[in-house]
Amino acid sequence: MTDVFGASHKDVHEQVVFCADEQSGLRAIIAIHNTALGPALGGTRFYPYESESAALADVLNLAKGMAYKNALAGLDLGGGKAVIIGDPARDKSEALLRAYGRFVESLGGRYITACDVGTYSEDMDVVARESRFVTGRTTANGGAGDSSILTAFGVFQGMRASAERVYGTPSLHGRRVGVEGVGKVGHRLVELLREDGAEVVICDVDPKAVERVRLRHPEVDVVADARTLMASDLDVFAPCALGGALDDETVTTLRAKIVCGAANNQLAHPGVEKQLAERGILYAPDYVVNSGGVIQVADEIGGFDMERARSKAAQIYDTTLKIFAIAADEGVPPAVAADRLAERRMSEVGRIRAIWLGH
Ligand SMILES: NC(=O)c1ccc[n+]([C@@H]2O[C@H](COP(=O)([O-])OP(=O)(O)OC[C@H]3O[C@@H](n4cnc5c(N)ncnc54)[C@H](O)[C@@H]3O)[C@@H](O)[C@H]2O)c1
Repeated sequence: MTDVFGASHKDVHEQVVFCADEQSGLRAIIAIHNTALGPALGGTRFYPYESESAALADVLNLAKGMAYKNALAGLDLGGGKAVIIGDPARDKSEALLRAYGRFVESLGGRYITACDVGTYSEDMDVVARESRFVTGRTTANGGAGDSSILTAFGVFQGMRASAERVYGTPSLHGRRVGVEGVGKVGHRLVELLREDGAEVVICDVDPKAVERVRLRHPEVDVVADARTLMASDLDVFAPCALGGALDDETVTTLRAKIVCGAANNQLAHPGVEKQLAERGILYAPDYVVNSGGVIQVADEIGGFDMERARSKAAQIYDTTLKIFAIAADEGVPPAVAADRLAERRMSEVGRIRAIWLGH
């Protein structure tokens, strides 16, 4: 049974809203973890959850994750997320998305939505017909479009910071980087790595994704699967497919000195980070280095400017270095250091709102 009011103070969510519209079949849950830094921003996941409690558990967890990600990305935004229960291929309709948009609007801007698994910029255009509090729309509608552009750029910045920490230089020239998953983010990361002079080796379960990279870069090596990739002779491993790439078993085979990639929830459980540290492998926390996408869509809120968003995403380099420094000073793994830094910002900057403005 999911604990809505939270097992510890860090898990307390400010607001959880259940939304239903019988005619369109909408069943959605919007969770706002906290608004200490501003309105809660996070995407809408459209997914066929097997139960309401599974959907609730997911949205609570994702909303909390967004609060931490947005805080470390330096955004004036809190953390929230929404889930729509259903099969997007079967259940998505204009009426359902617009009904959902009306619930988003009803929150008066406390929650701003965007794309996630199962929703696309085109869907956000539809939601935006009912709500002002939508981002990640299509470029044709003044939106930021495909967020994988700055996600890949941000991961690359995090990787440069990791290289600086391990090798004393941010350049990836001559380093061998393994990219697991060359989808929207992964293939863009390969571009950036090749421009910097890295040797790249990839794997993907989709032969078309592999082919797209090989057409542009015939020099890129391909291996059969993620296990083979992790066990090969790498300097950096970049998980850019699904979560959980690093578990008790795979971590023992990993030969890279750095793990830095786009995938969310790369560690199968928190204990894996300790095993990485024991093996002398530097882990760049996933939610820190993959925040370029949210930086891109957040920029749309005030009128999108790609160059401004890119320069903000470039700061992922400094943030990652700062986290490594805190981790070393405080004797904790980087993921713990990242959480502490995010909590510090939420608390210190959130607190100043207590200053009475006098109007
Ligand atoms: N797109 C973004 O802006 C963004 C932002 C933050 C985080 N992320 C995360 O980054 C990851 C990649 O996102 P994306 O948008 O590129 O998704 P995507 O679906 O476009 O790409 C994922 C790729 O991984 C491949 N893949 C799946 N299982 C695999 C496996 N077992 N081994 C090897 N390859 C496998 C898929 O075939 C696909 O090509 C996801 O975990 C996503 O949650 C994405």
